[in-house]
Amino acid sequence: MTDKTILRALRGEVLPTPPIWMMRQAGRYLPEYRATRAQAGDFLSLCYTPDLAAEVTLQPIRRYGFDAAILFADILLLPQALGPRLWFEAGEGPRMETTTTRAQVEALRPTGAIHDTLAPVYDTVRILSRELPRETTLIGFAGAPWTVATYMIAGRGSRDQAAAHALKDTDRATFQLLIDRITEATVEYLSAQVQAGAEVVKLFDSWAGSLKGADFHDFALAPTARIIAALKARHPGLPVIAFPREAGQGYIGFARATGADCVALDNSVTPEWAAEHVQCDGCVQGNLAPEHMVTGGEALVQATRRVVQAFRNGPHIFNLGHGITPDADPANVQLMIDTVRGG
Ligand code: CP3
Repeated sequence: MTDKTILRALRGEVLPTPPIWMMRQAGRYLPEYRATRAQAGDFLSLCYTPDLAAEVTLQPIRRYGFDAAILFADILLLPQALGPRLWFEAGEGPRMETTTTRAQVEALRPTGAIHDTLAPVYDTVRILSRELPRETTLIGFAGAPWTVATYMIAGRGSRDQAAAHALKDTDRATFQLLIDRITEATVEYLSAQVQAGAEVVKLFDSWAGSLKGADFHDFALAPTARIIAALKARHPGLPVIAFPREAGQGYIGFARATGADCVALDNSVTPEWAAEHVQCDGCVQGNLAPEHMVTGGEALVQATRRVVQAFRNGPHIFNLGHGITPDADPANVQLMIDTVRGG
């Protein structure tokens, strides 16, 4: 048995002080991240250079002593490993060769081939499991199939995921085949991260909130449940965090239905509501609004205390409701941590 606080919370233990980490904790708000990223040249080179990816993963651990480190990579590396070209437009975000026809889905590389591209990611995990402080938990991750599919189909991020909804509604068989291919590859990808040393894995379903009714069940819940069942069969006891962002009422029962050990909460739900309706099933993670990392001050302190207070009677991992933004002030992160740990 381990004493790592994140693992204890994930097993359902209620701790006097919630363990803490932060989505995008390695990122552009940190000067040391910007320096290493400049050294790498561009974002994808940073992801695929194990020494540098490990370095940026460690930076927020050194600076703040977070209880968990999250592997530095991106959810779009997996679809890239299946074949489509990926690049990042400066100041705009990801671009990807689109996959919209049955022929294109069938032309994706076989699942077993993903490791050719993703081997450097596993090397990063190996470095981290050697170099992290003994009390720090290493989290691996992947995008959930629906969110990954939205980028593969549209070739970029979009507010409403219209292209993915259109394919789902006009050519269900092709869409389902794509979801199945991503699901299968995600199991292999996360399993390789665990073999390399990841102690927890998290599934990011950033666009789960745009799936309604039966679609939410079929394309957010079901693929997540399949991935978790396959991973737990191979790695008994592996803790899994699911993040069906903006699921709203869909958060209720999500952990039970998918087998997730923890559900990560965004800012569309209040901590009091989530304590009553979601934390009753087990550990939750969240959900301070990332804007506080920009604005700081007494409002940050009060909002942080409110989150801690709301979740104090159940297992809880303190986090933001989404990733920290590049305009955040590193001093506000310290204030949040001091407030969580000091009261
Ligand atoms: O949380 C972490 O620090 C771990 C690393 C991580 C990154 N992306 C690094 C990154 C993780 C877990 C992700 C997940 C990710 N990537 C998601 C799901 C979570 C979410 O935010 O909703 C999505 C949708 C992506 C795809 C992606 N990657 C987008 C849309 C962008 C551009 C937006 C932006 O912030 O610029 C990225 C780039 C990206 N991924 C950056 C980082 C640190 C910024 C790149 C840079 O340094 O220029």
